[in-house]
Amino acid sequence: MAIIIDGKKIAQDVRNEVKEEVLRLKAKTGIVPGLAVILVGEDPASKIYVRMKEAACEEAGFLSREYKFPADVDEGKILSIISDLNRDDEIHGILVQLPLPGHISSDSIIEAIDPRKDVDGFHPYNIGHLFTGNPFHMACTPLGILELIDRSGTGIEGKEAVIVGRSNIVGKPLALMLLARHATVTVCHTRTRDLPEVTGRAELLIAAAGRPEMITKDMVRDGVVVIDVGINRLDDGKLVGDVAFQEVAEKASHITPVPGGVGPMTIAMLLKNTLNAAVARSK
Ligand code: GUN
Repeated sequence: MAIIIDGKKIAQDVRNEVKEEVLRLKAKTGIVPGLAVILVGEDPASKIYVRMKEAACEEAGFLSREYKFPADVDEGKILSIISDLNRDDEIHGILVQLPLPGHISSDSIIEAIDPRKDVDGFHPYNIGHLFTGNPFHMACTPLGILELIDRSGTGIEGKEAVIVGRSNIVGKPLALMLLARHATVTVCHTRTRDLPEVTGRAELLIAAAGRPEMITKDMVRDGVVVIDVGINRLDDGKLVGDVAFQEVAEKASHITPVPGGVGPMTIAMLLKNTLNAAVARSK
């Protein structure tokens, strides 16, 4: 039976470390990290995430500001707020909760954010720096995955790492991060011809496809470290990952649960990125 990687506990450890750093930064420089969160529309999941992000900011001793707009707001209005926030010395991080309504271009909005304040790590400037191996802000979910792997002591260098899913938010940036940490990286997707053959080679398997329980025990080898990024709500209301947890846990050496695995790490890393932005500003 696998060791369960406790994301809730690791996320809380990171949040406590951030909180201590905030006290030190405040005492030394008078700077309080500030995060601005922009929420457009009424998507229930987005509202919950935004509330959780604000609560985490408060706990860490950050300044947190929320900007809420109706779903039919003009793109120009959002761009103008971002422009103000770019020049606002109290604000070190700007986050626009995605997805945005169809009439607003996510690319234009993300590109309007000052890359130094892009604590989501989505701006092409930050993606470019990740690509060339000299990163500044990196996306929170893949960063959280690295933190889980590091703090569970399982190792990355030299490992055969397989990622299932090629999204801009998880799969693609994670591939670059694991490559920078000297893993041999394979990225699978919907057109991968023989998925079980590829996942079966993995020593480190990251499931980020958004398909409930698609990774089954016949697709993994003994001793694999499994990180499950999926959050899927089944018809009966049950929350499951992309991994069939019970059966895969019989073969894995380590595995993350859903919920309580990768999920809590995203907000913890958002705090860390915002703190880093404030520290960079203090120099
Ligand atoms: N929507 C889903 N995940 C994310 C994320 O990491 N950041 C933002 N801004 N929106 C999201």
